[in-house]
Amino acid sequence: MKEATLFDELEDLSLSFDYLRSPFFYVGDKFKLMPQLLNLFPKHINTYIEAFCGGGSSFLNVRAKKYLLNDKDEHIINLHRFLSSKDMNFLEELFKLIAHYKLSCSLKNISPDLSMKKEFKKTYFARFNKEAYLNLRADFNADKKDLARLYLLLIYGFNRFLRFNAKGDFNLPVGNVDFNLNVLNALKSYFSFMKGKELDFYNLDFEDFLKKLDLKKDDFIYLDPPYLISSSEYNKLWSEKEEKRLYEFLAKLNSKKLRFGLSNILRHKGKTNKLLEKFMQNYESFVIKSNYISFNDNSIKKDSLEVFIRNYKD
Ligand SMILES: C[S@@+](CC[C@H](N)C(=O)[O-])C[C@H]1O[C@@H](n2cnc3c(N)ncnc32)[C@H](O)[C@@H]1O
Repeated sequence: MKEATLFDELEDLSLSFDYLRSPFFYVGDKFKLMPQLLNLFPKHINTYIEAFCGGGSSFLNVRAKKYLLNDKDEHIINLHRFLSSKDMNFLEELFKLIAHYKLSCSLKNISPDLSMKKEFKKTYFARFNKEAYLNLRADFNADKKDLARLYLLLIYGFNRFLRFNAKGDFNLPVGNVDFNLNVLNALKSYFSFMKGKELDFYNLDFEDFLKKLDLKKDDFIYLDPPYLISSSEYNKLWSEKEEKRLYEFLAKLNSKKLRFGLSNILRHKGKTNKLLEKFMQNYESFVIKSNYISFNDNSIKKDSLEVFIRNYKD
């Protein structure tokens, strides 16, 4: 297994603003790994196809003529469809809602006073916004088509998750975050990326999505599925059955000489993904340096091994 070339240099680059951050701040997003991944993606891509696009950190950083993007989670796709139809005027709509609910907004210096910040050092945003957030959540749950409110729930919600209960109500508690400069920059980048792009969103299972497309040799299919051996909200719907289905499908793509790249975790907390280990043997694989924040902490670095697997050369 090879290491992604120029790793150290590229890793540093990810701290600069050359890479676009998705306004979804999605759990497990690929933002910090994009410098390494882009180095391994094909140099020329006609249509970029992503079967598990999540918050979109990957596609936002890829240059292609056309983009076909899919995720099984209907809420994330609804939000992509909604946000991609917006422009900078949308910010005014958000600021009006923020003012209406009396939420904090660091970007506009509307934040808890000093005494609250001193008393609740790590939770002052959550304390300040709790009531306003619950009002916002109740209003959204009364009209689930109101996606501006859903986007704000994501921005002010715990760990910026999108979580619904069995009844279909949004049920995340308030988080210790608010609308700050990072959110503004991510929205700006998203709107400018979307401008004039040929791009479609799909809300399907990965296999149904890929089977629907007329795939060509100069297209590139990137896959960042839920990881079988790690735990995350979206891993709940993923099992060995899905994992096998994915590998069988990728083998078919390979036999048709269609280019794919797959991200995954080979080892995590003492567990090894055996299905992946076997699948990888037929392709070229690279180690991706992850756990970015704990970069100097060897114990954490060794705990998880992220890989990128591809079936093309350039
Ligand atoms: C690891 S995340 C992708 C993160 C994304 N690369 C990013 O940077 O934000 C995996 C995604 O797969 C989606 N997913 C789970 N099962 C799926 C399926 N059967 N077909 C398509 N998407 C699925 C989840 O909703 C989740 O968004």
